Amino acid sequence: MDVLAEQASVKSWFDEIYKKKKFKYLRSQNAYELFPTLLQVQPGEKHLDVACGLGLMMRSMTKRGLESYGVDLSDEAVRQGKLYCPDGNLQVGNAEALPFEDESFDHITCLGSLERMLNRPKALQEQVRVGTKDAKYCFMVRNSEHFIWRFFLKPLGLDNKKGHQDALNLEQWTALFESCGLKTRKVYRDHWPFYRSISFIWPFNIDYSKERRFFLPLRWAYEYIFVLEKAE
Ligand SMILES: C[S@@+](CC[C@H](N)C(=O)[O-])C[C@H]1O[C@@H](n2cnc3c(N)ncnc32)[C@H](O)[C@@H]1O
Repeated sequence: MDVLAEQASVKSWFDEIYKKKKFKYLRSQNAYELFPTLLQVQPGEKHLDVACGLGLMMRSMTKRGLESYGVDLSDEAVRQGKLYCPDGNLQVGNAEALPFEDESFDHITCLGSLERMLNRPKALQEQVRVGTKDAKYCFMVRNSEHFIWRFFLKPLGLDNKKGHQDALNLEQWTALFESCGLKTRKVYRDHWPFYRSISFIWPFNIDYSKERRFFLPLRWAYEYIFVLEKAE
């Protein structure tokens, strides 16, 4: 399959999934409250969510007084996202050719999506281009060393090929980011499995925006959250 046909097939897979499952395809809004904390955002700053899906990350940012922009390949995602996050600026677009001027954003997020991109270096170089000199980046990416990926999804062929699902390990993600002009500030394990589990048993309010310390090895994470900045 050539690149254009492959990109069209990823897009149509996502259009269908969003039509069918809507918000059930994604995590709940609470899962997105952690990222503004990790990025230490301030009201009035400009944020871009690359592969914004239904606008959940954007909603968490606009709630905190940021001006938030989002781009997604799927026009069905953008249609639903505009209704869900009316204060955000969503548009259809490809992460590999972002429709923004150089140095436009203070914070850039890309969650659960880099694995889906056909040309990851290009998508990353574009994000570096549109970030300000001091921009902070937050990427959530799948760990290929997690047992679910290693022993079930990959060997049994259960990964979602039409949605171009993939995973890399910690060193491979780090090397990819560094080769595209980024420097890692910190890597966290994804907090959502923990928060989702305690939400079933804890009867009091949970502060989903709080950064937690975990005693399990980072390598056991299902997904990694990278916080990065531009290299010199
Ligand atoms: C698993 S969803 C995550 C959505 C969103 N980031 C979130 O966490 O709620 C992956 C998203 O990546 C988008 N996507 C895949 N390839 C893309 C590309 N090249 N450019 C822009 N969006 C893309 C899909 O349309 C889909 O909305």
